[in-house]
Amino acid sequence: MNIDKKEIDNFDIYAHEWWNKRGPYKLIHNLTPIRVDYIQNTINIKGLRILDIGCGGGLLAEELSKKGAKITGLDASEKTINIAKQHAKESNLNIEYICSTLESYIEKNKKKFDVVICFELIEHVPDQEKLIHSISEVTKKNSTLFFSTINRNIVSFAFAKVIAEYFLKIVPQGTHQYEKFIKPSELALLLELAGFKIDDVSGVKLNPIDHTFSLSSMTKINYFMTSTKK
Ligand SMILES: C[S@@+](CC[C@H](N)C(=O)[O-])C[C@H]1O[C@@H](n2cnc3c(N)ncnc32)[C@H](O)[C@@H]1O
Repeated sequence: MNIDKKEIDNFDIYAHEWWNKRGPYKLIHNLTPIRVDYIQNTINIKGLRILDIGCGGGLLAEELSKKGAKITGLDASEKTINIAKQHAKESNLNIEYICSTLESYIEKNKKKFDVVICFELIEHVPDQEKLIHSISEVTKKNSTLFFSTINRNIVSFAFAKVIAEYFLKIVPQGTHQYEKFIKPSELALLLELAGFKIDDVSGVKLNPIDHTFSLSSMTKINYFMTSTKK
């Protein structure tokens, strides 16, 4: 099973905080607008079937659902998926949420998706290659795959691990393990081996004053990678 139980225990602890804009997921709230813009600038999502893997409390899923996409959200943390379900219900949104890893989902479902989103998940799974192989199984020719994750270098270690978790405390402590960070070149190679063509790599820049984000050519810390199934 491609799951790290300690990671899930950690996400369970903060599950009730997903929709607290000033809580430990504040940065993810601030990321949502540029994520939505990035996706919409790549593809018209209206009517498309989208799989959001490791969807958390549903911050992105809800925004994409409001824009007319049909969303399935998977998350291995039961507490988290329950928060996502509850919030979608209160928001009158029809989103399918399932507590599952991608691998378990595939065992029971043969559905293929037009778009797959894998944001800030690959750095939390034990077998990154297996995750990408599984993503390949839920895509079809021309499906679009959006990734976002953290690069691996001294700058990302200093920022994403030490400063964000321990000094600024804008990310829950223990969220990240440096050795699971992945370089764009490594991610691109895994995707190409799984049959994807890389379309774009864009960096994400944090404004240290107001903690908002913008796209950047600097990919040293967080980055997006978009690819298409061949
Ligand atoms: C850092 S959060 C990212 C949430 C969301 N994708 C976002 O970027 O806003 C990682 C999420 O992945 C979930 N997760 C961790 N390991 C997982 C796995 N093996 N399969 C599915 N979900 C997992 C966690 O419970 C958590 O909600």
